[in-house]
Amino acid sequence: GDTPDVEPLALGFESIRGSKTDAIVVPEGYTAQVLIPWGTPLNNSVGQWSTDRRMTPEYQAASVGMNHDGMYHFPLSEESASREFIMALNNEYIDQSALWAPQGGPTNQQGGDRPVDEVRTEINAYGITIVRLSKNSDNIWSSDTGSRYNRRITTGTPIELSGPVRGSDYVVTAYSNDGTRTRGTNNNCANGFTPWGTYLTCEENWPGIFIKNSDRYADDDRLGILRERSIWGWETAASQGSNGEFARFDATPAAASARGDYRNEPRTFGYVVEIDPYGNTTSVSTETAALKRTLLGRFRHEGCWPGKLTEGEPVVFYTGHDARNEYIYKFVSAANWDPADANRPGEDYDRLAIGSKYMDEGTLYVARFDADGSGEWLALTPDATTQDGRRLSDALGIGADDMAGVLINTCDAADMLGATPMDRPEWGTVDPASGDVYMTLTNNSDRTAEGMAATYTDDASSIEALGAGYDTAPVNAANPRPDNEAGQVIRWREPSAGATTFEWNIFVFGAAAGDTDNFSGLTELNQFASPDGLWYDDRGDGRGILWIETDNGYDGVLDYTNDQVLAVVPSTVSIGPGDQAVVNPDDQAQLRRFAVGPNGCEVTGIFATPDRTSLFINIQHPGNWPADPNQNVQSATEATSGTVRPRASTVVIQKLDGGAVGV
Ligand code: FEO
Ligand code: CA
Ligand code: CA
Ligand code: CA
Repeated sequence: GDTPDVEPLALGFESIRGSKTDAIVVPEGYTAQVLIPWGTPLNNSVGQWSTDRRMTPEYQAASVGMNHDGMYHFPLSEESASREFIMALNNEYIDQSALWAPQGGPTNQQGGDRPVDEVRTEINAYGITIVRLSKNSDNIWSSDTGSRYNRRITTGTPIELSGPVRGSDYVVTAYSNDGTRTRGTNNNCANGFTPWGTYLTCEENWPGIFIKNSDRYADDDRLGILRERSIWGWETAASQGSNGEFARFDATPAAASARGDYRNEPRTFGYVVEIDPYGNTTSVSTETAALKRTLLGRFRHEGCWPGKLTEGEPVVFYTGHDARNEYIYKFVSAANWDPADANRPGEDYDRLAIGSKYMDEGTLYVARFDADGSGEWLALTPDATTQDGRRLSDALGIGADDMAGVLINTCDAADMLGATPMDRPEWGTVDPASGDVYMTLTNNSDRTAEGMAATYTDDASSIEALGAGYDTAPVNAANPRPDNEAGQVIRWREPSAGATTFEWNIFVFGAAAGDTDNFSGLTELNQFASPDGLWYDDRGDGRGILWIETDNGYDGVLDYTNDQVLAVVPSTVSIGPGDQAVVNPDDQAQLRRFAVGPNGCEVTGIFATPDRTSLFINIQHPGNWPADPNQNVQSATEATSGTVRPRASTVVIQKLDGGAVGV
């Protein structure tokens, strides 16, 4: 790779100590402002939030959804991009105790039929929030209630399928006889964005909203569709509503037949979904809000991140499957990048049509990480050759040219090609100067020591990858720690955007400072576990900070601190054969703890304004926070007390002197 001709950035703050309070803690000289907590109205139709508000389908459909996760910003003009923008925000899942707090909890969650209004409200609490944000002259951010951009996309919103699965028999339902449409997107975890100005939102733990009692497909088992009762019991409202509004959550052919056949409904989920945040969707019917890009694979997508962009070369995206011993994928467009397709901020035109050009034709690959520090992208096509020498279409039992069948069965196809089972791939990010890709591997309780000592060496060449979904897999070179509770960040480098080979190493291993497998030499001031959110904040001159967020369940670190944001300036070390086992101390020399979240939360979602003066993060599933949604905390050491109805929120971190964050 290239070494930039500029001095690396130096972090301009001191690492903060761990914290276990009901507050956000930031370094000296910084502030943290709570913004758009769950339930913030998006328009003036439903009144104001109050702590004792009883949620209704109407109120929730017109206000910010629950449990903020991935997010991104879309400028209204180049000039104003750091003062105002459209925010697209994932609302990953619901917290029933907070949602139904005024009535003491949900009705019939443990058994019996759920009331229709509660089900509709829960459906409306999931999905995506789109809201215009702006900053005033005092650098306080707020949402613009009633902006024409403000809207919600929920688990009930009509959405079209796009790419090879569209129109196939795999996705015919009573709702869509031609297999082109479905309702909703669900468990939108991490995100991505495109160079043409659209938002990507990714369907992660969606299998839990469906049941199928009999006649199950192989992919129902592989992805974990439930059997008796779904996670929230929405299917128990099936006698209510019309057109299968709730019956669709029971995909059992016999049970659903009286109200329409929804055996294929789960096959309309598990995708990367593209949304035009500017609201112009003329390439699809006026009732649909987004397109599911089926060519990027079907699994529990964490997120989807664009690779280094080069004129005249393919556009690439990286996406991981967050489940134990699942895989990392890369999509390579058939069309080469034309800068004329770049986003024109604020203009109304058909961005999803540009998305179709780049995301509906191309090749999906899955990663094999070899023990010598090299790797290969394995093409998932019907004519690919499996490890045991068969044609992939034959091995899957599908038609010879059935690309839709490959995509419906993405995970099984990846098994058969010999992909490397990973320690739960979560967020990825790309240094746009070097093209280096980073991805968090958060943890893996189903990783065994078989064949390898609990020390980190590159001597893993004898280990066969099992790759069997939730089954246990032995350590391999890229996932070298058994019962991996603390996770790691892996990095790879490719010779070009469309390359099918790469070189990799481990960038940093999470650990508690005192652990025997603290391979990266972490101390009390930067120990962390379960890396999850990740963002390389390219500063436009070949330099940048890598931000790491955590979602930690490892007591070794949790006993010391809540979840956190760390920052590091990656050194430019070599990556490749022989280097993958080298934990280069320069890589972690500047790893510093930047912020700590409130009790009970995970920290997720991250970007900054183009001028890098406002860093946006999300606090998901806080236990008892925020007591005051307008709090603007300076170097917060103060903790709130008492019991509040917790609300996931966005938090904006700024420097008191108005300068760029981190430096
Ligand atoms: Fe929704 Fe894998 O985090
Ligand atoms: Ca995550
Ligand atoms: Ca996580
Ligand atoms: Ca989460």
